[in-house]
Amino acid sequence: MSFEHVLVIGAGQMGGGIAQVVAASGRQVSLYDAAPGAVERGLAAMGKSLEKLAEKGGADPADVLGRVSAADDLVAADLMIEAVVEDAAVKANLFHRADELLPPEAVLASNTSSIPISSLAAATSRPDRVIGMHFFNPVPVLKLVEVVRGRETSDETAEAITELAREFGKTPAVANDFPGFVSNRILMPFINEAVWALHDGVADAEAIDTIAKLGFAHPLGPLALADLIGLDTCVAIMNVLREGLENERYAPCPLLEELVAAGKVGRKSGAGFFIYSQ
Ligand code: CAA
Ligand code: NAD
Repeated sequence: MSFEHVLVIGAGQMGGGIAQVVAASGRQVSLYDAAPGAVERGLAAMGKSLEKLAEKGGADPADVLGRVSAADDLVAADLMIEAVVEDAAVKANLFHRADELLPPEAVLASNTSSIPISSLAAATSRPDRVIGMHFFNPVPVLKLVEVVRGRETSDETAEAITELAREFGKTPAVANDFPGFVSNRILMPFINEAVWALHDGVADAEAIDTIAKLGFAHPLGPLALADLIGLDTCVAIMNVLREGLENERYAPCPLLEELVAAGKVGRKSGAGFFIYSQ
């Protein structure tokens, strides 16, 4: 399998970062987002990230950006990497459309944080070529790709995507198809428990994050990390865990849901547990 042209769907913080690492590996990228102006914002964020990396000897930003083109809709490519909102119905609809539009040999990958890959594969006629390719935020910096095999993902697809992750300079780790896979089965309950600690008045947000940063040597505390991920995404992931694992212990803390309902979804909205200047 060769992946010379990659269609990235979703130009938010993850899709933009994914488009950047794909283009930095020398491949052509088509970037599509349904929201007006989203691709332009994604390209601007890519430019800033590439400038930072160029100062440390990274690739020429103009060269990398020259391989990314804006698409008005889905286009044919060797590989799709879907990185839209964490909503199973929206993703399944895109997988169905991509299956109709992309050549039969193309691989359809999702950057979902938690949604079982087999449920996305079921929306296509090529479940052997559907796989999870789960990058970590910020994509240009963090080295992991969690490769998630659906029930029917072929060995050939899994091997090709694992090798591709290495070509992006990432370290792949393979997980099976459970809600939240490995990463968010561990991370999200940790974040949710930190939100409960705030909700219950165990400590204020600063103190909770200081305890995790200095006590566990984490680069960010769990509340700042939730703000980085997006509180909307955290709630969506908790709900996938709760429904998929059929256990109320994964229910999102009401404080998380209240902040999302108030539009305070973290860094991308300027406020969450903390306030951010744009
Ligand atoms: N592009 C390029 N470089 C970047 C960057 C980006 N987007 N973001 C940060 N950097 C660089 C900075 O330029 C800086 O470089 P120097 O050290 O050379 O100056 C370096 O990274 C550190 O950045 P900062 O000084 O701004 O701040 P920091 O030390 O706190 O690092 C961070 C920022 C890399 C985000 C770090 O805080 C971190 O790793 N945090 C943890 C992030 C994490 O856990 N992510 C996983 C989230 S879970 C997930 O992704 C899965 C899911 O499904 C939800
Ligand atoms: P985001 O909110 O920053 O961006 C999502 C983008 O998807 C938006 O630009 C939106 O306009 C676009 N979109 C929504 N519906 C669409 C559609 N039907 N067609 C095309 N575009 C559409 O979200 P994000 O943080 O980039 O997360 C995207 C995906 O990556 C989610 O599945 C999330 O769970 C996963 N993920 C997120 C993180 C993280 O830390 N934020 C880490 C790993 C994986």
